[in-house]
Amino acid sequence: MGGKGSGFPYDRDLNERMAGMVIRTDKLKATLKARRQQAVTAWTFFQQWLKAPLTTAAISPSSKELAAEMMREVPKESGHVIELGGGTGVFTEALLDHGIPGERLLVFELNETLHMHLRTKFPQANIVCADARELPRIVEAANFCTPGEVDVIVSGLGLLSMSKELQQEILEAAFAVLSPQGRLVQFTYGPTCPVKREVMRALGLHARRTGFTIWNVPPASVYVIKKSVAKRVKALRV
Ligand SMILES: C[S@@+](CC[C@H](N)C(=O)[O-])C[C@H]1O[C@@H](n2cnc3c(N)ncnc32)[C@H](O)[C@@H]1O
Repeated sequence: MGGKGSGFPYDRDLNERMAGMVIRTDKLKATLKARRQQAVTAWTFFQQWLKAPLTTAAISPSSKELAAEMMREVPKESGHVIELGGGTGVFTEALLDHGIPGERLLVFELNETLHMHLRTKFPQANIVCADARELPRIVEAANFCTPGEVDVIVSGLGLLSMSKELQQEILEAAFAVLSPQGRLVQFTYGPTCPVKREVMRALGLHARRTGFTIWNVPPASVYVIKKSVAKRVKALRV
């Protein structure tokens, strides 16, 4: 009855095994809870896609693997960071985990339901229900920072399904708030940079493909878009 040769009146091995079982049950409960939350989030996102497929631009939230590829292009020492199209918050969570403090993170989400979801999930961050085209106005209205002081914009927007005009309006607004060395980190499901060539040329931008993951639905590439050096020099001279 006692533990091996211990003389202890109860079976120590059995005690330890039972304690181990309790820990495993707790882990299982936590995993099931996380899975249930993921399923609810994916369902919320899918419902929004049914209502507005073009604006939502994806049938399921971005994967953690894609978020990790995006974060590789966000310097940890970044000052002010903006996220466009927060959706269910996969990139928001990754940015906070990456070390960007909530007070230096401003998230734009156009969809009211997803905006409320983000606000509940990330009370520590600045979350606005606003259009990315309004970037300069909102950055000032929210007292976030002075336009021109933003280091990084992480975009979850579905640029690929947008018209040339809409792309140009959004990118113009983005580069109006970014610092001269600032960068826009964008993902795409397409084989090339999702910003149309005319828009890149008109705004003096260049893009570099920095990552790819097959672990996303659909698989996605990451691009870093910046002002071309010639345009930056010209802007400094003016
Ligand atoms: C592809 S989803 C983002 C996915 C997000 N990374 C996630 O994992 O949930 C694009 C999001 O951008 C939002 N959106 C689309 N156009 C927008 C705009 N002009 N301004 C701000 N948000 C916009 C949509 O409502 C949608 O939530």
